[in-house]
Amino acid sequence: MKVVVVGSGGREHGLAEVLGRHAEVVVTPGNPGIPGSVATPVEELVSDGSVDLVIIGPEQPLVDGLADRLRALGVRVFGPGADGARIEGSKAYMKDLLVEAGCPTARYGSFADLEPALGFLRSLPGPYVVKTDGLAAGKGVLVTDDLGEAEADVRDKLAGTAFGDAGRQVIIEEHLSGPEVSVFAVCDGTRTVCLPPAQDFKRVGDGDSGPNTGGMGAWSPLPFVEAGFAELVAEQFIEPTLSALRARGVEYRGVLYAGLMLTSEGPKLLEYNVRFGDPDSQVVLLRCTSDLAELLAAAADGDLTTVPAPTFADDAAVLVVAASEGYPVSPRTGDVIEGVEAARSVEGATLLAAGVGADAGGDLVTAG
Ligand code: AMP
Ligand code: GLY
Repeated sequence: MKVVVVGSGGREHGLAEVLGRHAEVVVTPGNPGIPGSVATPVEELVSDGSVDLVIIGPEQPLVDGLADRLRALGVRVFGPGADGARIEGSKAYMKDLLVEAGCPTARYGSFADLEPALGFLRSLPGPYVVKTDGLAAGKGVLVTDDLGEAEADVRDKLAGTAFGDAGRQVIIEEHLSGPEVSVFAVCDGTRTVCLPPAQDFKRVGDGDSGPNTGGMGAWSPLPFVEAGFAELVAEQFIEPTLSALRARGVEYRGVLYAGLMLTSEGPKLLEYNVRFGDPDSQVVLLRCTSDLAELLAAAADGDLTTVPAPTFADDAAVLVVAASEGYPVSPRTGDVIEGVEAARSVEGATLLAAGVGADAGGDLVTAG
């Protein structure tokens, strides 16, 4: 099978690594640290009909309708169309859908006007959770004990000063607590196969301190999660969501990434993403012992029953991010990344490149 992965980060490198065990893989645009990266746009790569499957990694091209455009050309695509990607593109839409599907989630209000938003906020016991409706590169959520800070955040978001148009609608939520887990549900429009859960760690510093990042590490399997959890997530969350989507005319073929909190009242859904997590999917996918390309192709074809259930090694996978100086506030770029070959030669270690460029001499350098 010939597979094209669209994207340029660690998630795409992880996908390419695991897909590459069974398929021929090209990544566009990739980065200089990902083997098989090509600058050729995906539309051009598929134009001669030689590509069997395109997997779209990041949310932005999905929200922008890349999957629709490729499907219109007759290409087999793993990734939702713009209608399905709205789940990640608008948190208000996602929350409404969750209620419709009967999935446990935090109580919430969604507001475009300041006074009702502040009224709702003041009616909550705190801590306060304020989110932008639109995409904000993982930075649109404030969780705080301080009502004044939450009010200021609502003002900034609604005024468009904090997140532009993405913030002109805000979601204010009841605060939940408990460990967070990620479940990646491979969906064929009707059915789903939920992969084993993972957990990621977002704060930059040791001991879970400092500002949030895109993720500093991840692990899988999770020792504190009971057997059968993935199946429970499929039944309680993913299948009802796929039904609610179908009722709206949306055929969702791609991954639904469920961000769940294990509360004292049972698992509740914090959010859906329409893509694999980064870096949490890498630790799950690297444990996969079956043919991932075949699984994702079956989902793209709309029939997961044609392939065997995926299998996973019992081995643990632990991912650690080595970030550039100053990350995430102002990452320094252009520093040569040393020790790459030595790291690659460690038995059982896999090196994945994200935010990586190359200098004139061909050395890998920090780029984000
Ligand atoms: P989200 O982008 O919606 O997943 O939110 C980002 C992070 O904010 C989550 O991973 C949680 O750590 C935190 N968070 C979001 N919603 C809540 C909530 N209702 N209660 C407590 N923490 C939350
Ligand atoms: N691991 C967090 C995310 O991909 O959104």
